[in-house]
Amino acid sequence: MVLFFFLSLPYTLPMPAPTLDALVSLCKRRGFIFPGSEIYGGLANTWDYGPLGVELKNRVKQLWWKTFVRERADMVGLDASILMNPKVWEASGHVGSFTDPLVDCKNCKQRFRGDKLLEEKLGVEAVSVLKLEQVQPMLVAEKIPCPSCGKVAWTEAKKFNLMFKTHQGVVEEDAALVYMRPETAQGIFVNFKNVVDTMRMRLPFGVGQIGKAFRNEITPGNFTFRTREFEQMEIEYFIDPEDKTDHFGAWQKAVWEWYTGLGIDPKRLRIREHGKDELSHYSSKTIDIEYNFPWGFGELFGLANRGDFDLSQHEKFSGQELRYADPDHEQRKILPHVIEPSFGCDRTVLTLLLDAYTEEKVGDDTRVVLKFDPRIAPIDLAILPLSKKEHLTAKAQELYKKIVQETGLTVDFDVSGSIGKRYRRHDEIGTPKCITVDFGTIGEDAAQGELDTVTIRDRDTLKQERVTISALVSALKR
Ligand code: GAP
Repeated sequence: MVLFFFLSLPYTLPMPAPTLDALVSLCKRRGFIFPGSEIYGGLANTWDYGPLGVELKNRVKQLWWKTFVRERADMVGLDASILMNPKVWEASGHVGSFTDPLVDCKNCKQRFRGDKLLEEKLGVEAVSVLKLEQVQPMLVAEKIPCPSCGKVAWTEAKKFNLMFKTHQGVVEEDAALVYMRPETAQGIFVNFKNVVDTMRMRLPFGVGQIGKAFRNEITPGNFTFRTREFEQMEIEYFIDPEDKTDHFGAWQKAVWEWYTGLGIDPKRLRIREHGKDELSHYSSKTIDIEYNFPWGFGELFGLANRGDFDLSQHEKFSGQELRYADPDHEQRKILPHVIEPSFGCDRTVLTLLLDAYTEEKVGDDTRVVLKFDPRIAPIDLAILPLSKKEHLTAKAQELYKKIVQETGLTVDFDVSGSIGKRYRRHDEIGTPKCITVDFGTIGEDAAQGELDTVTIRDRDTLKQERVTISALVSALKR
């Protein structure tokens, strides 16, 4: 008996992080993420969040909003349009600078990012200082072959702007050209004055926004890591340029704590500072928080010091004064500086899925379990009648209604399949607790427990406890 108990305790296999294939397959099988437009053969690199994926993503967004907007007196929120006046993108520098160097293979006509082809051989830093006209000669000198056909036959590199274009209204002429925003940030800058005037904000203060952004990426891939349509959760934090507080350091710490507080293993995270030549056109300092994805470290989050670049550009291009009047010193008008914490929402969800994915040995079996923080698990609780017998399911349904009404939790009611299979399903979707209604609950088997008691099973420890329904409901309410 004792031996059996120990054998049935889970222990984690000494396995590396899951392969991307294992995760993609679980996401499809269990309703987290489906390939986009699947019945039409798909559309490359588009993904749809299924019933559990949308719950997970919503919970991530809600938790982010709670932590960084609602619970901070120095933050407010915004939800700006995706389509903006095209002058915004001239002012922000995206029309001129948001480009990648493209090269074509003369042999097979495939198109690639010249800088990415060179990065493996020369490193990110060395490539970031190359001029556009140096890309093709460098590819040839280094004998870098086409990844598709293996020939070294490159065209001159051309600038390719990553912004998606569309037309507003019925005439498809240049005058009606608009861009799909490539970052949510600019919606905040153009509303800076509106927010200061209506909310009477005092520096330092920040504006948070969650929304879609679009980039015509040349090399999307690795599941939802790099896509052309994605969601960002961004903050622009406005500070007095004379304020000597280390706001950059404070944001770095707050974000690191948010990610690790969600259970992400700090050993799989690292901070990487951008080299001077790698910085975006608007930034004087940038750090990335990177996660060790199955293909290596990749950017999860970026923190940039944008200085007064954006506000001064928008002053210039719009002709409007965007200066902030210092309420403590009359006559003092300043252009605030900006610290920008920028989170990829889809990358955060992907990281949480990868980091939660665990394979464990339980007795002779192996189980897959998503060890989500209970705050983000798509389903809080499952109610499982032991069998389909009517008096059991009726009692379980009564309990389901009571819990949903009295606690507001997301509860799954699951009757089909053996109890073992249902436990496995809930392990795979990360449900923290399962409640089993059995014959003891309805008083038909005294050995199983007293009347009106149920069993709670914990996802991680697999421990099962017998509790009364009233104690359970009041614990859940808490
Ligand atoms: N406003 C600053 C900005 O947009 P960024 O580093 O280009 O900075 C911020 O993007 C975050 O958005 C990244 O850290 C990443 O998580 C996410 N992101 C960027 N491009 C993406 C893409 N093509 N697919 C998915 N997420 C992306």
